[in-house]
Amino acid sequence: MLAPGGRPEPRTWLALWRQISWLACWIALCAAEAVPACPFPCTCDGRGLQVDCSGLGLTALPPGLPAATRSLLLLNNRLSSLPGGAFANLSGLQRLDLSNNFLDRLPRAAFGDLGNLTELQLRNNSLRALDTALLRPLPRLRHLDLSLNGLARLPPGLFDGLPALRSLSLRANRLQSLDRRTFEPLVGLQLLQVSDNPWECDCHLRDFKRWLEWFSYRGGRLDQLACTLPKELRGKDMRMVPMEMFNYCSQLEDQNSSAGQEVPGPPCTKASPEPAKPKPGPEPEPEPSTACPQKQRPRPVSVRRAIGTVIIAGVVCGVVCIMMVVAAAYGCIYASLMAKYHRELKKRQPLMGDPEGEHEDQKQISSVA
Ligand SMILES: *[C@@H]1O[C@H](CO)[C@@H](O)[C@H](O)[C@H]1NC(C)=O
Ligand SMILES: *[C@@H]1O[C@H](CO)[C@@H](O)[C@H](O)[C@H]1NC(C)=O
Ligand SMILES: *[C@@H]1O[C@H](CO)[C@@H](O)[C@H](O)[C@H]1NC(C)=O
Ligand SMILES: *[C@@H]1O[C@H](CO)[C@@H](O)[C@H](O)[C@H]1NC(C)=O
Repeated sequence: MLAPGGRPEPRTWLALWRQISWLACWIALCAAEAVPACPFPCTCDGRGLQVDCSGLGLTALPPGLPAATRSLLLLNNRLSSLPGGAFANLSGLQRLDLSNNFLDRLPRAAFGDLGNLTELQLRNNSLRALDTALLRPLPRLRHLDLSLNGLARLPPGLFDGLPALRSLSLRANRLQSLDRRTFEPLVGLQLLQVSDNPWECDCHLRDFKRWLEWFSYRGGRLDQLACTLPKELRGKDMRMVPMEMFNYCSQLEDQNSSAGQEVPGPPCTKASPEPAKPKPGPEPEPEPSTACPQKQRPRPVSVRRAIGTVIIAGVVCGVVCIMMVVAAAYGCIYASLMAKYHRELKKRQPLMGDPEGEHEDQKQISSVA
């Protein structure tokens, strides 16, 4: 096939084969030297960019992860904690999967060096709380999965450093309420999953409902926000519950604020860890309102009512004013006409000297009047 003219000589073929195999050997050795060693129980792809340590029953991170790692799979293991600088030097890491482990706590600096991370999977762990600053070092994060954990609340500011986030899953946790301020930094969010949480559809969730309206207005998708409490709303989607159902909230707030401000409300105490006692100075009364800007938000009904009253009052005043102006103008015109008439009458009188005419004129005037 190769040499149609005659038979190839076996010796030259053999020599060629040897050379080729030597060359292959050298290439393999050189490549092995260039590619960093794969950490022991894990498997790596050819260039060591993807390190797969999944399903190995690991209880600790394998040592010596290559600094060039792009993707690190640690799912289906038995990790229950991570050391502080667990992923130090892995600044090129883009995808980190820690699903199906037993992580119950993450140190504040766990993801400190992962400035290029775009996907973080923490699905099906035992997380009950997250540090506010945990996700701050991840400005490029696009996908975050926190589903199937035991999260009961999200600390305010948790998502402050995640402007690039596209999808977020909070499915199957123990969340009862969410604070809209926590979600406001997520300007690029497109998909939010919150189903399978024991949502309490009360005043606290009302504000979040407002954020959801804005979120879906700009094209965001939400899976389901089914109420667990109160009983009357069980199973209903919070988005379908009319806002009027929550009118009582502003009344409650008004009552609370009028009944002395010793109860600033749970959202405020959450937002400002220091309670409202910054100065024992001469003005203790107005402090809570400044320490808690959120207080002003949930009163749009009374604000709307006030604006309505002002507008109606303005319209009524305007109409009255116009009528008064018209009446005044009418009066002026009438007065000037009368004055003119009298003047002409006086001019005529000396010429005619006719008391009858005057009498007639007076009659006319009285009839006009
Ligand atoms: C990270 O890199 C620094 C030097 O660049 C080194 O001293 C340190 O041991 C490395 N840390 C880890 C966990 O590899
Ligand atoms: C990680 O991001 C930094 C900028 O924050 C960039 O300079 C660096 O090249 C990136 N590293 C990799 C491996 O992509
Ligand atoms: C969650 O993780 C545990 C232990 O890793 C596993 O047994 C279980 O099947 C996982 N559950 C789901 C829904 O993935
Ligand atoms: C009003 O105060 C009560 C406790 O006095 C509290 O349970 C309730 O949540 C407060 N309501 C609002 C809307 O802040």
